[in-house]
Amino acid sequence: MVVAFKHYYMNKRGFASDNNSGVSPEVIEKIIEANNGHVIAYGDDPYTTRAIELFKKHFGESAVPFFVFNGTGANTLAISAINRSFNSVICAASAHINVDECSAPEKFSGCKLIPIETPDGKLTPELIEPHITGIGFEHHAQPKLISISQPTEMGTVYKPDEIKELSACAHKHQMALHIDGARLANAAVSLGLPFKTFTTDSGVDILSFGGTKNGLMGAESVVFLNNKFSENFKYIRKQGMQLASKMRFISAQFIAYLENDLWERNAKNSNNMAQLLYKKICQFDEIKITQPVEANGIFAIVPEKIIEPLLQEYFFYAWNEKKNEFRWMTSFDTKEEDIEGFCDTIKKHL
Ligand SMILES: Cc1ncc(COP(=O)(O)O)c(C=O)c1O
Repeated sequence: MVVAFKHYYMNKRGFASDNNSGVSPEVIEKIIEANNGHVIAYGDDPYTTRAIELFKKHFGESAVPFFVFNGTGANTLAISAINRSFNSVICAASAHINVDECSAPEKFSGCKLIPIETPDGKLTPELIEPHITGIGFEHHAQPKLISISQPTEMGTVYKPDEIKELSACAHKHQMALHIDGARLANAAVSLGLPFKTFTTDSGVDILSFGGTKNGLMGAESVVFLNNKFSENFKYIRKQGMQLASKMRFISAQFIAYLENDLWERNAKNSNNMAQLLYKKICQFDEIKITQPVEANGIFAIVPEKIIEPLLQEYFFYAWNEKKNEFRWMTSFDTKEEDIEGFCDTIKKHL
C-alpha cells in the first residue's frame, strides 16, 4: 500500500481502511464486564479459558490459539514458529508480510521471503512450484512455508478447493501452509462457509486470525491447526513481546466476537456495503474497477482530475500511484448513506 496523502478527517466514515472504524459496542461491554476484580495475569484466567474454547468450537478441537496484540505480530510469530533462519517463505508479492510489515517477519525470523507476482493476489501451485528449488543445497535458503492471505490484499477470496491444492503442494514438499486471516470473517461470509471448512479441513497448518479490522479494539491470534508446530510457541510469543499481561481484555474481545454471531454480522455488513459501493461505482464509466469484489475491498482506477478534489473530502490510500489506482475499504459500521455521500462527491467532481 502506498501512503500518498496525509490529510486528517475527523469522525467522517470514509473508505480508507477498516482499521479506521471504531469498536463494536458489544466488545466494549465485554471489556467492561471483564474489568472486575483481580484474575491471574498472562492468560491463566476464566476469560482466556472461555475464548480458547470458542476457538476450538470454530476451528476444531485440535486448534491451539495464542492471543497477541496485532496482526504484524501474529504473522511474524507464526512464521517464526515454523521456520528456522535458513528457511524461506513463499508469498504473494502483494502480501502484507512482504509489503506492509516493515520487514518484521524477516528481522525476527531471520528468513528470506520469496514474493511471487500474482494478477489477483492469489497464489497457485503452478506459480509456487518453480520457486521450490535448491532443496538440500546449502547455498540456498530452504523453502519451509507457503503464506497466503484470505481474503487477499486485492480483496479476492480463495475457495476451499484452491486452499486444499495449496496445502497439498506444501505438504508434498514437507512445507507448511499459513493463512494471514486478518479479515478471515469477511472471507467466511463471502464463501458462506464456517471458518473450519476452509482452514482446518482444507489442510492449513497455522493461521493468523484477526478481529481488529472487524469491530474489535485490538485482538489477534496465532492459531495452530496442526498441533505439531505449537510446542515451543509460548516461548516464541514471550520473546516476541506479544504476551499480554492483562490477557483477559484480549480474551474478552474474542468472547464477544465468537460466542454469538458478531464476527458474522459485522463482516456481512462490510461485505454488503462493498457490493453496494461496487454497484454504484459501476455507474461511472470513467472509473475502472480492477479486481473482483469478493470481500470488503474495492480497487479502482480513477481519472486524474477527481483525485485531489475527492481527497479534500475523503481520505483514502493509493494502491498504485503510477496507475491512479486506489483502494476503498468498507467497514462493519459503514452505512448506505456513507456510500451515497461518497458517490455523490465522485459524481460532482467527474
Ligand atoms: C492482510 C493484513 N494482514 C495483517 C495486517 C497487520 O495488522 P496490524 O496493523 O494489526 O499489524 C493487516 C493490516 O492492515 C492486513 O491488512
